[in-house]
Amino acid sequence: MSATGPEPHIPVFRPWYDESEPAAVKAVLESRWVGQGPVVDEFERRFAERVEAGHAIAVNSGTAALHLACRCLDLQPGDEVLVPTLTFVATAHAVCYCGAEPVFVDIDPETLTIDPDDLQRSITPRTRAVIVVHYGGHACPMDRIWDVAEAHALTVIEDAAHACGSRYQSRPVGGLQRSAFTCFSFFATKNLAVGDGGMVTTPSADSATRLHSLRWMGIDRSSWERMGGNARGIRNCDDSRDACSSDDSDDRCKWQYEVADLGWKHQMNDITAAIGLQQLRKLERGNERRRRLTKRYDRAFARAGWLRTPIERDYTTSCCHNYVIRTAHRDRLHAHLDRAGIASSVHYVPLHLQPYYRGDDRRSLPIAETVWRRLLTLPLFPELTDDQQDRVIDAVLSLPDTGTESERRLAAEHERGDR
Ligand SMILES: Cc1ncc(COP(=O)(O)O)c(C=O)c1O
Repeated sequence: MSATGPEPHIPVFRPWYDESEPAAVKAVLESRWVGQGPVVDEFERRFAERVEAGHAIAVNSGTAALHLACRCLDLQPGDEVLVPTLTFVATAHAVCYCGAEPVFVDIDPETLTIDPDDLQRSITPRTRAVIVVHYGGHACPMDRIWDVAEAHALTVIEDAAHACGSRYQSRPVGGLQRSAFTCFSFFATKNLAVGDGGMVTTPSADSATRLHSLRWMGIDRSSWERMGGNARGIRNCDDSRDACSSDDSDDRCKWQYEVADLGWKHQMNDITAAIGLQQLRKLERGNERRRRLTKRYDRAFARAGWLRTPIERDYTTSCCHNYVIRTAHRDRLHAHLDRAGIASSVHYVPLHLQPYYRGDDRRSLPIAETVWRRLLTLPLFPELTDDQQDRVIDAVLSLPDTGTESERRLAAEHERGDR
């Protein structure tokens, strides 16, 4: 409580908006075309440039991006796809949507990303692909993953929902050529936040063509192209003809289209893309601010022996999507922060422990099962002020360092081995 009343609540995530997003949305509304159209085209072009990808296909969520990437693999019932257990449920659900089975893999205890050794152990003759997740923006050790995958003819999909602006080695995530697809989320909490939206990037022109069709009902022309837009150079048919009945795709009327596949209504619209373009412009600045705040947290917590700060391996530059500490006092700290008006969260309960995926035949994944109980995500977003962050830091460091018997036991374990 300050002298003037309770301190304002501090959320975990907050999108960074200014006057540019409403202005861009207004321009789209005034254009009277609000579906998928030229603004989506521009967003895709600029996003592909930014991440140095061959192709970028905009969709209406990160989940849709993962779904369509999996759909491109033509998975069959009985096929298996390896998925880290510490992720948002969309990573695994996307596999199930395609009739295949997600097989959960343990994590590296330091980076919280998929453990390449356990990945290798989990391969069976039915394994078709692996989806890796760049947890918190920290890229996975991709060279090891590609080597294992290529040795077993597995397709690699990157779930880059957390990794907008991250790098692996010197290259941006999204433009890594040895992965078939990279899937981004632009959900409300992400570094590039549009409400709901996503993007698939791919180096393959054939995959891009398939994705364009799958995201729009399997139809080969968008409504914009058919109703007046000319994004892909469609011309009017020859006035001299009696009827527009040609099957020749080069000689069709503007209104004509074909349904060539079972697609979904997963396309992005121009309102969303307009926000996306503004967010893309600010992405690097926002990520720089996140990095500065991350370093400030690291310094402030360096001497707090009862908690552990995140690490960054030298093969990645993280976009610092979230700031996840580890402590045996996780739940007590969460409640303590809540009382101080500071939100915190947990990313994630491992998926193999969730009721939908908890089967009798699931093997145990000991690292994830131990580590997740200690994870706590603290507030991190570009507009978090130094003063607000100091409030978070003071609140964390003021947690009385005693606890229940079970917390003391966990803390002792923590000190012994898991540091
Ligand atoms: C790791 C991960 N994968 C996939 C998704 C799904 O993205 P969306 O919420 O945009 O569908 C999310 C988003 O919350 C995520 O965090």
